[in-house]
Amino acid sequence: MEKVMIDGGSALEGKITVSGMKNAAVAVLFATLLVEDVCIIENLPNISDVKISLEILKSVGAQVEQLDSGRVSIDCRYVCDYAPPEELEKKMRASYYLLGAYLGRFGHAAIAYPGGCDFGVRPIDQHVKAFGALGAAVDTSRKDRIEAIAREGKLRGNAIFFDCITVGGTINAIIAAVLANGTTEIENAAREPHIVDLANFLNLCGASISGAGTDSIKIKGVEKLHGCTYSLVPDMIEAGTFMIAAAATKGRLYIDNVIPEHLEAITAKLTEMGVEVEEFDDAVLVSRKGELKCVNIRTKPYPGFPTDMNPQIAVLMCMADGESELVDNIWGNRFRYVEELKRMGAQITVSGNKANISGGTSFCAARVRAVDLRAGAAMIIAGLAAQGRTEIDDFFYVERGYDNIIEKLRAVGANISKVCR
Ligand code: EPU
Repeated sequence: MEKVMIDGGSALEGKITVSGMKNAAVAVLFATLLVEDVCIIENLPNISDVKISLEILKSVGAQVEQLDSGRVSIDCRYVCDYAPPEELEKKMRASYYLLGAYLGRFGHAAIAYPGGCDFGVRPIDQHVKAFGALGAAVDTSRKDRIEAIAREGKLRGNAIFFDCITVGGTINAIIAAVLANGTTEIENAAREPHIVDLANFLNLCGASISGAGTDSIKIKGVEKLHGCTYSLVPDMIEAGTFMIAAAATKGRLYIDNVIPEHLEAITAKLTEMGVEVEEFDDAVLVSRKGELKCVNIRTKPYPGFPTDMNPQIAVLMCMADGESELVDNIWGNRFRYVEELKRMGAQITVSGNKANISGGTSFCAARVRAVDLRAGAAMIIAGLAAQGRTEIDDFFYVERGYDNIIEKLRAVGANISKVCR
């Protein structure tokens, strides 16, 4: 088992570069299953969710070749329609994109229920509803796996109205509809940048998708897709995590390879808290000199404040003057990290999906656990701000989604290292 040790108290200073987006990477990787040709994907983050996705693709017959760092060639011409090993599927959330991809390509699919971070119940009823609208019979009666079959042998385009805004449901519906007969219109679609990225990738392969980035997406089914070379967008959550790390350590970070527009909700709240954020074409410069002001935040689907920044911003709210309120409108059980943060001195009361945070905390070093991916990122930020040595167990969660985070933080002045026990 690996853990991370941080000797906190140093301000982060210098330039740090953001990698490709995890949640775009996993969507695009599974979407390559639709392409009977070679795709070259660039700016792929070196994270375990990407490694597992590539393992899954290989296990069903894709030829995967690592060209160089962050560049992979994927040839899905000879992919078979059998299910990948269950233990791989269960290691990550995004393996449920296999359902859309297999249904789109083969007209049938059978997969194990996906894994992923534990935020309480993570239903997939909207995915099932979308596949049903596209003409699939979906069997969810078994506890261990989901099976789906296109009633006419192939999916048929149709209207899909999501009852709630779902990122994964929107992605799965797009993947399934690309090769369907006829036109699909998705209403109440999620608008996240990774949905736009997936649509851009598929359009480059010959798909006909319009409206991605709005809540109404139109997909005209095409016969076949061809290969392409595609570079993924930068990870806005990784960028946001570094922005908060700069603010928490009273540092000054030039955060490179970002799309500042994707960061607007985060930038707005940091500015409200008294952090300075200067925007450039593809970078932001984040610095803090004065005290932090308290703030109220409600997480929302994009372009609202992202739930995947909930634990990290909570660290900063703990350090601010006064009382802050953080409400998570996406995941009811996202506050499992609070108990860990309390070991470092945080004063937080959680009630349902709301956290009341008393400010003025000077974090003290402690031995804590990463309870999930973003929770682990929050522990790192608190450890960087604390005086003394913080130890973080279960670091593998962080490696699911942050590319070389130890090396990147060391290069800007953090005393952080990974040790194997
Ligand atoms: N929901 C339903 N039914 C569904 C699908 C979702 O009720 O069929 C509900 C969920 O319970 C939740 C809300 O809708 O309350 C949003 O869920 P969504 O489907 O958008 O989440 P997801 O696709 O499972 C992705 C990211 C998460 C991120 C959420 C929200 C991937 C692989 N995961 O999950 O990322 O928190 O969107 O933005 O893209 C992370 O990166 O740390 C992470 C957890």
